[in-house]
Amino acid sequence: MGMIVVTGANRGIGLALVETFRARGLDVLAVCRSSSAQLEETGAEVLSGVDVTKDGDVQQLVQHIAQRSIDVLVNNAGILRWGDSLESPQFEDMRAQFEVNTLGPIRVTSALLDCFTPGSKVAMITSRMGSIADNGSGGAYGYRMSKAALNMAAVSMARDLKARGVAVALLHPGMVATEMIGVTNGQIQPAEAAKGLVKRIDALTLETSGSFWHQNGESLPW
Ligand SMILES: NC(=O)c1ccc[n+]([C@@H]2O[C@H](COP(=O)([O-])OP(=O)(O)OC[C@H]3O[C@@H](n4cnc5c(N)ncnc54)[C@H](OP(=O)(O)O)[C@@H]3O)[C@@H](O)[C@H]2O)c1
Repeated sequence: MGMIVVTGANRGIGLALVETFRARGLDVLAVCRSSSAQLEETGAEVLSGVDVTKDGDVQQLVQHIAQRSIDVLVNNAGILRWGDSLESPQFEDMRAQFEVNTLGPIRVTSALLDCFTPGSKVAMITSRMGSIADNGSGGAYGYRMSKAALNMAAVSMARDLKARGVAVALLHPGMVATEMIGVTNGQIQPAEAAKGLVKRIDALTLETSGSFWHQNGESLPW
């Protein structure tokens, strides 16, 4: 039996995913930049000091995992920078969101390729804000583009990893009460989001690999 790896595990949805997997008695490697008291309480193995935008940090992760195999990798770490608009584009913020939200999951997944075995799964925590068809309100250039680009990368990964027997899911967690959108703004709590996300990961197969799902089970448009 391999283990579950979750990035951005110290708070928010990542922390709730760790708690959900741990409640099932699974081995979880919780990866973060810096740990938290709540994360330590889960009893997960914690690896801190991993910024997903840094090659050296991700290599530390590879060395830490050593020869162990991974059942599920959840690329959850992400950032949202409000405030870019057509009148006032924030190019630095756009670049930062690409670095974390798009290139981060590619960097981590690529570095861990040798840890996957047939049956392993990769889950991308993306957003319906990255859906072009669903963009009814505009704005949020950097975040929307970074998640749309992640979606494209994840579909390529689904194609590229099929021969290895590895499936890839693109998952929207809902509007979740975390620091990202403000804990009073969410429609659901992280625990509920995590429960749905884990259901979608359970249901993922090579046949459904590369699909875009809401954690509630709805199929989302590109
Ligand atoms: N909340 C929502 O409604 C919502 C909706 C759609 C999609 N999402 C997606 O869900 C995922 C989790 O978001 P959340 O709501 O739980 O947000 P959150 O509470 O702000 O947590 C974000 C997590 O990402 C980590 N992170 C940020 N930059 C990182 C970096 N460079 N390297 C490593 N880790 C980094 C943070 O670590 P630090 O503590 O070190 O900053 C934190 O653990 C994100 O991908 C987000 O885009 C959330």
